[in-house]
Amino acid sequence: MAKQLNIGMIGYGFMGRAHSNGYNRVANFFPDLEFKPVLKAACARNAEATKTFADTWGYQSTETDWRKLVERRDIDAVDICVPNNLHKEISLACAAAGKMILCEKPLAMSVAEGEEMCQAVEKAKVANTVWYNYRRIPAVTFAKQLIDQGKLGRIFHYRANFLQDWTISADLPQGGNGLWRLDAAAAGSGVTGDLLAHCIDTAIWLNGGVTNVTAMTETFIKERTHTATGKVEKVSIDDACAFLCRFNNGSLGLFESTRYARGHKALYTFEINGEHASIKWDLHDLHRLQWFDHRDVGNLRGWRSIHITDGDHPYMGKWWVPGLQIGYEHSFVHQVADFCESLAKGTPCGPTFRDALETQKVCDAVLGSAKTGQWTNV
Ligand SMILES: NC(=O)c1ccc[n+]([C@@H]2O[C@H](COP(=O)([O-])OP(=O)(O)OC[C@H]3O[C@@H](n4cnc5c(N)ncnc54)[C@H](O)[C@@H]3O)[C@@H](O)[C@H]2O)c1
Repeated sequence: MAKQLNIGMIGYGFMGRAHSNGYNRVANFFPDLEFKPVLKAACARNAEATKTFADTWGYQSTETDWRKLVERRDIDAVDICVPNNLHKEISLACAAAGKMILCEKPLAMSVAEGEEMCQAVEKAKVANTVWYNYRRIPAVTFAKQLIDQGKLGRIFHYRANFLQDWTISADLPQGGNGLWRLDAAAAGSGVTGDLLAHCIDTAIWLNGGVTNVTAMTETFIKERTHTATGKVEKVSIDDACAFLCRFNNGSLGLFESTRYARGHKALYTFEINGEHASIKWDLHDLHRLQWFDHRDVGNLRGWRSIHITDGDHPYMGKWWVPGLQIGYEHSFVHQVADFCESLAKGTPCGPTFRDALETQKVCDAVLGSAKTGQWTNV
C-alpha cells in the first residue's frame, strides 16, 4: 500500500490546473511508486472560485489564507502556483513549518531572494523542487541521455528561442490575473524570468554552467493601464530579450525571447551543435527529436526526425504503445513521479532550489548586462 503524500495547492490558475492533473494521473501510470499524492487542500483568496477549483480537481478542502494552509498538520507538501513575488515568503513559511515544497519557476525575484530560500530549505532539510517541467518532456530527457553518453562529442554551440505574440496590443492592461506577468512588482522581470528562465534551465542541465553574458532588452509598449489602480503606469518589464553567453565548457550560447513575434504562440526551440552530431527540438512538435550524425555513411547522412514514442525512450514505457505520442501535460505527471521516487530513495529531485538558483543567477546577469551594456560574469 502506497504512503500518502498530502498536497496543499496554492493558486488555481494555469499551473494550479497543470499540477493538479499531474497529481491525479500519476498513480494510474506509475503504479509502483511508494508515495501517492492526495489532494488535501486548495488555497486562493476567492472562496467561491477556490471551492469550484477544489471540486473540479478533487481537493478535499479549501483555504483562503495561504498561511493557514502552510500551518495545517495534515499537509506534507505545499505546491506554490502563485505569482513570482509570493514564492519567497511562502517558501520561508513552509520551511519553518517543516513542509516539503514544490515551487513554480522562476525560483525568486532575484538571486538574493533565491539564496535566502535555498538556505531556508537546506537548514530545515525539507524536500524541494522547482517546476522547470521541460526537462521531463521525453524528447528533452532523451537529448540529455545522448549528451551524457558523449554522442555529440565536444559541444560548440547552444541556441535557444522562446517566442510568443500575446502582448503586442497596447490596450492590454498590466497587473491582475494572468496579466501580473506584465507588472514588474509581481513578476520581477518580463520574458527573461518568464520564458528565458526555461531555456536557461534546460541549457544548464544539458550543457553545464554559464560563465558570462552580454544582453539587450527592450520594452516596446512603455505605458499600460494598471488593473489594480485603473491608472496608466510605466511598464518596467522586458518585452524582449536577446543574449550571447559563454558556457563553462567553452561552447557559445545564443538566446532570444519575445512576446512580440507575430505568429508564434509558444515556440520554444533549442539546437545543439557538437563535434560528431547535432540535436534540435521544438515545443510545437515536442514528441520529436531531430538528430544529425556525421558518423553515418556519407551518402546517407542527413537529419533524422526521431519519434520519441518507443518503450525504451525516457518515460514512454509508462504510457501507450510505440507510435502513440504524449503531450505537454505529461511533463508535470513525470515531475510528480520523479518527486515521489526521490522521496522513496531519499535523494534530491532536480531541479532543486539550489539548482534553480543557477538559472536565477544567469537571469540576473542578463538583466544587469542589458542595463550596463557590458559583458557580465554570472
Ligand atoms: N512551468 C511552467 O511552464 C509555467 C507556466 C506558467 C506559469 N508558471 C509559473 O507559475 C506561477 C503561477 O503562474 P500561472 O500562470 O499559474 O498564474 P495564474 O495567473 O494563472 O494563476 C495565479 C494564481 O495565484 C493565485 N494567487 C495570487 N495571489 C495569491 C495569494 N496572495 N494567495 C493565494 N493565491 C493567490 C490567483 O488567484 C491564481 O489562482 C508563476 O510563478 C509562473 O511563473 C510556470
